[in-house]
Amino acid sequence: MASAFMQRALRAAAAVRGQTRSNPWVGAVLVRDDVVVGEGATAPPGGVHAEAAAIAATGGRGGTLYVTLEPCVPFAGKRTRACVEAIVAAGVERVVVGIPDPDARVQGRGIAWLRERGVTVEVGDGEREVEQQLRPYLKHRSTGRPYVVAKFAASLDGRIATASGDSRWITGEAARERSHQERARVDAILVGSGTVLADDPALTARPGGVLAERQPLRVVVDARGRVPLSARLFDVPPVILATTRRSSPEWRRGVVACGAEVIECAGTESGVDLDQLLEALAQRGVITVWAEGGGTLLGALFRDGQVDELWAFLAPVVIGGDGKAAVAGPGTATVAEAWRLEGTVVESLERDILVRGYVRGR
Ligand SMILES: NC(=O)c1ccc[n+]([C@@H]2O[C@H](COP(=O)([O-])OP(=O)(O)OC[C@H]3O[C@@H](n4cnc5c(N)ncnc54)[C@H](OP(=O)(O)O)[C@@H]3O)[C@@H](O)[C@H]2O)c1
Repeated sequence: MASAFMQRALRAAAAVRGQTRSNPWVGAVLVRDDVVVGEGATAPPGGVHAEAAAIAATGGRGGTLYVTLEPCVPFAGKRTRACVEAIVAAGVERVVVGIPDPDARVQGRGIAWLRERGVTVEVGDGEREVEQQLRPYLKHRSTGRPYVVAKFAASLDGRIATASGDSRWITGEAARERSHQERARVDAILVGSGTVLADDPALTARPGGVLAERQPLRVVVDARGRVPLSARLFDVPPVILATTRRSSPEWRRGVVACGAEVIECAGTESGVDLDQLLEALAQRGVITVWAEGGGTLLGALFRDGQVDELWAFLAPVVIGGDGKAAVAGPGTATVAEAWRLEGTVVESLERDILVRGYVRGR
């Protein structure tokens, strides 16, 4: 269980999730005589880190700094002053760290740097809570792939659209608002070309009905270049169309003229090589991908073992018949092999429910 001061640092970090790409969302509090005198969280890239923000929030010297992630060290090309330097300059005597930073440029060097300069460092306060909070970041830095959250809005019988492709709206206002809030916190939204062709969605983050200032990257997998250049998706940047050699040069030029980027990936039986695409997104600093469907894309992501977390919005409605499956394709052969969730949370959203959890084994 995290100490009370670390819990406060965790809350500060939670408030900036989604605004720090491609940095981790970190929180810190500076404590003197058992009183919090400074609090900070990671600013958007190029701005100060949590430790420097907490220190800057107060005058004077000394104290204990509680920080969720190991402080960073100086390295070539760094945009901001290293946090370890700010800590030593402020005369902080003790640093309590949640977890070490797995980033190859840090990896224990921050802790060692401070200890070499006489600062007491303790590691592991709130370790489990911090690991939970930084799951996407830890995956990104340790595997070079983003953390993938699959999301769908389905009927009780697991349909995300009718047989004719109609899907508006299965869930109500509260569920859709929750989804918009989450869109504003992720780095990228991923959909299949089938969804763009069927619904022509804007895919923007509009919490409270207002277009968020910072929009996530919108990514469409479209192996053959079927998405029309008139799609609403192109209205708000940034947008990426991930395709294969099968799309025409004219279509690609049109996509670029619309202000979007084209990424060419290898082709697979399903279309775009998803692992290659995810790696390319990770290299662009995408830590969390919110995969919104449709069923064909989610089926491929599950089958390839790419899904880390699932958010299933379920409406008290039955579509039946040949309605489109939330996770299409052959699925698992046996129930024993089915993708099970753990750490499951159920939320009530007016008439709908949200079931979310981590895909077991991820
Ligand atoms: N209720 C909801 O939450 C929700 C959300 C989204 C969509 N929907 C509904 O779902 C329906 C669309 O779903 P859908 O299953 O037809 O289409 P989809 O999953 O949106 O798109 C599938 C298409 O994406 C392309 N693709 C490229 N690479 C792929 C890969 N590696 N794996 C899988 N697909 C890849 C393929 O077309 P190419 O080969 O041409 O590239 C494929 O046919 C619509 O009716 C929509 O209204 C509902």
